[in-house]
Amino acid sequence: MLFGLNHSLKARVMKKKINWNAMLPKHIAIMMDGNGRWATQRGLPRTAGHFAGMKTMKNTIRFCKKNNVEYLTLYAFSTENWKRPRSEVDYIISLINEFVTDDTLDDLNRNNIRINFIGDISRFSLETQNMMNNAAALTKSNTDMIVNFAVNYGGRNEIVHAMKLFLKDGSHELSEEEFERFLYTSECPYPELIIRTSGEKRLSGFLLWQSAMSELWFTDEMWPSFNEYLFYKAIYEFQCRKQYA
Ligand code: FPP
Repeated sequence: MLFGLNHSLKARVMKKKINWNAMLPKHIAIMMDGNGRWATQRGLPRTAGHFAGMKTMKNTIRFCKKNNVEYLTLYAFSTENWKRPRSEVDYIISLINEFVTDDTLDDLNRNNIRINFIGDISRFSLETQNMMNNAAALTKSNTDMIVNFAVNYGGRNEIVHAMKLFLKDGSHELSEEEFERFLYTSECPYPELIIRTSGEKRLSGFLLWQSAMSELWFTDEMWPSFNEYLFYKAIYEFQCRKQYA
């Protein structure tokens, strides 16, 4: 309880430092890293970290929406993640399946939030692919915010996939503008801010094309500990950098 009070006070103080009339990131992308370490530090199985990470992800969507973030891209499952033990992979997939079928989906829909799955979803079971496609179809006309979940996603893979589509289309000269029409994120502006938790300071293939001009913001906190205070801190520091850019 004390922790909660302290945290919401810190969040409010940090929020006040932001100039809400100055430049704000419209598109924020987050690498939700550190679920496993968060759990290990507490003597819990890694799956408990993913469960906690899922809760944090839902809260993050909520406070991004509250603060008028228009596009949010979340790195949920990389092409590398298949190398993890089968039981851990299955658990993460079960969390995704649950997310696209439980009350959360209705809640996002009611809040006028559109969701997309970006990445090569063909590697998931047909059942999971159907659930992802249905969730995207259900929320397709929502206009307040787009949330992209990057699943079985790798940046190089995305670029090769886009190039194949570009060549197949064959109707235009190759240019940056024509090429990026085939990226998974073609409906979104580039992310102005990319956040990575857990102290790692790499892009790990996330949004390789789209991140060319993005500000990168890192925190040592593990993903399940990410909160509104850190969100405001990232935006505040983003604005400080932009003032002198
Ligand atoms: C990174 O922590 C987190 C993941 C690989 C999985 C995160 C997935 C979810 C929270 C569920 C996503 C749900 C939807 C609907 C897309 P890590 O395991 O790499 O942590 P570590 O670096 O400490 O091992």
